[in-house]
Amino acid sequence: MENILLDVRGLKTYFHISLGVVRAVDGVNLCVSKGEAVGLVGESGCGKTMTAHSIMKLVPSPPGFIEEGEIWFRNTDLLRLGEQEMRKFRGREVSMVFQDPMTYLNPVMKVGKQIAEVLVSPTRDRTVIKLLESVGIPDPLKVADQYPHELSGGMRQRVLIAIAMANDPPLLIADEPTTALDVTIQAQILDLIKTIKTEKGTSLLLITHDLGIVAEMCDRVYVMYAGKIVESGDVFSIFEEPLHPYAQGLLRSSLSIAEFRENLETIEGTVPNLLDPPSGCRFHPRCPMAMSVCKEKEPSLIQEKPGHEVSCWLYEKDGRDRNHS
Ligand SMILES: Nc1ncnc2c1ncn2[C@@H]1O[C@H](COP(=O)(O)OP(=O)(O)O)[C@@H](O)[C@H]1O
Ligand code: SF4
Ligand SMILES: [Mg+2]
Repeated sequence: MENILLDVRGLKTYFHISLGVVRAVDGVNLCVSKGEAVGLVGESGCGKTMTAHSIMKLVPSPPGFIEEGEIWFRNTDLLRLGEQEMRKFRGREVSMVFQDPMTYLNPVMKVGKQIAEVLVSPTRDRTVIKLLESVGIPDPLKVADQYPHELSGGMRQRVLIAIAMANDPPLLIADEPTTALDVTIQAQILDLIKTIKTEKGTSLLLITHDLGIVAEMCDRVYVMYAGKIVESGDVFSIFEEPLHPYAQGLLRSSLSIAEFRENLETIEGTVPNLLDPPSGCRFHPRCPMAMSVCKEKEPSLIQEKPGHEVSCWLYEKDGRDRNHS
């Protein structure tokens, strides 16, 4: 257990809007061990970003509130820390990179200064250049003296990674870090993250809708659907034998994985509105395997194989019996 760095338990993050309550994250459990790369995968709107923002305590509030749960980082429950303590925590213990670096970077401050601002180290100027070098920026002296808008998307993402890694945090959360980039640049940024992970032993929580990226980067994966974790396990067993019909659908519809398969399929329908999610198993309106029990009762997360958990009535003895009765 002492190997566990991040342990999220029963996390619920809701948005209170005029139409009602959006259950964006609805009872999520997940953990990341030291040096481990963990994927969080699911279609857009499933609650991945809000899970990450909850961990960083960056949920826009109001209307968003963490309603329940615990977020343990080593021996500290982050939900018990005040904002001042959280500020020290962010960047030193956990850092985050985002899909769009421009929303994070200050448009009117030169890149070098933005990196220097987050550094705790006294030898700032030298460290800034070293950091830019370490994220593969070819002309660090020049880039340090530029504004974010003067850089390409890929370079901006490198700068954001430099800022995230400035104080060597043990955990990096990357939320769709390459989604906005074209394919070649995407591969370069993923390579960079991989190198950082190998060289520094940084743990990684990688959020993506792309199972191909998970296959390439991660040791373990959580599949998220409509605010809940529906399957988790090591990458090998989930790719070899996905258990949840949603995970099976994701795999069949993954472009990068379909290259190796006969045909590409899509999952019919869309992610439900989390204001009023479907009863029972939230996937039932889209599930080709749905049974009568699926509409009525929510399946629990059960361990189907060592380290491989799934939440689906197909794997609950009780569910199969009921359906046949
Ligand atoms: N500020 C907000 N107000 C209301 N609902 C929100 C807000 N931000 C996110 N949500 C809702 O939370 C759910 C999860 O969003 P998000 O975590 O961004 O999903 P993902 O990252 O998986 O695409 C969505 O249904 C979204 O509409
Ligand atoms: S519980 Fe039922 S509806 Fe949900 S994924 Fe399993 S079979 Fe499909
Ligand atoms: Mg997102």
